[in-house]
Amino acid sequence: MLAATVEQRAPHMLESVRPEEVVTQPYAHYARQNAVPSDVYQQLEAEFPGLDTILNGRAEAGSNVAVRLTVKQVLGDRRFSPLWREFFEYHTSGDYWRHVTRLFGNHLRSEFPDLEEKIGRRFEDWRVVPRGFAGEADIRLDCQFVMNTPVRQVTSVKTPHVDLCDKIFSALFYFRDSRDQVSGGDFDIYRWRREPRFIKHRSLDRDVELVKTLTYAPNSYACFVNSPLAIHGVSPRGITDIPRRYINFIAELPFKAFEPKQLNRLQQMWYSKEISAAVQDDKY
Ligand SMILES: [Fe+2]
Repeated sequence: MLAATVEQRAPHMLESVRPEEVVTQPYAHYARQNAVPSDVYQQLEAEFPGLDTILNGRAEAGSNVAVRLTVKQVLGDRRFSPLWREFFEYHTSGDYWRHVTRLFGNHLRSEFPDLEEKIGRRFEDWRVVPRGFAGEADIRLDCQFVMNTPVRQVTSVKTPHVDLCDKIFSALFYFRDSRDQVSGGDFDIYRWRREPRFIKHRSLDRDVELVKTLTYAPNSYACFVNSPLAIHGVSPRGITDIPRRYINFIAELPFKAFEPKQLNRLQQMWYSKEISAAVQDDKY
């Protein structure tokens, strides 16, 4: 007898979240474990592309480096399963953006009070195009397969920082391999101890305080409004042959939404040792 196969539909990450579940401190974010039903998670995990596919012919990038495939590379490529292509298509669509703005519209509004006027439309009505595709858009959405390559010396893939200033909403969906037993690789949320000041997009460790850690666990999800307040980082990861796996979600404007205030020259001289430590591991 043929085994019955259940056709899975791609999960919609924010569809069932209620606005009151959004946490506002130290900046607007939402996180949960067991983000999607376990049967669909298992299928997504089984069909998650391998490191070779993600490297896409490039030589291995080095120890604990982020390598990725974007929506532009994934949609229409039959090497990726129908379930994954549907997942990427949905999370770069106007339907997905409606849920982002249903939950985060007011938070975006208070963080970026001039943005709707500048665009000429309410956040909820913005025209959406997947990143890398042609077409008039107010916001471009990306969905990416990401792996942090095997770790040969204990490092953080990314110390405390905010995402690039043309990004206003970011999310992560973790696919930790069950054989991966090393500690670290968790998502750390920080708050400022003082007025924000940056070296490019990074903060000095002395300026920020760890508020919350979201464990790098299978089927866990986090999202946040990116702004000068949105300091986050990845905790140092132990030595392992197993890549750290996740889906990265990006919402990108055609211009900068904010300008991270840089340390002045005197401060740069004063903290030069800490700055070189912060910038040294700026790998992408
Ligand atoms: Fe980031």
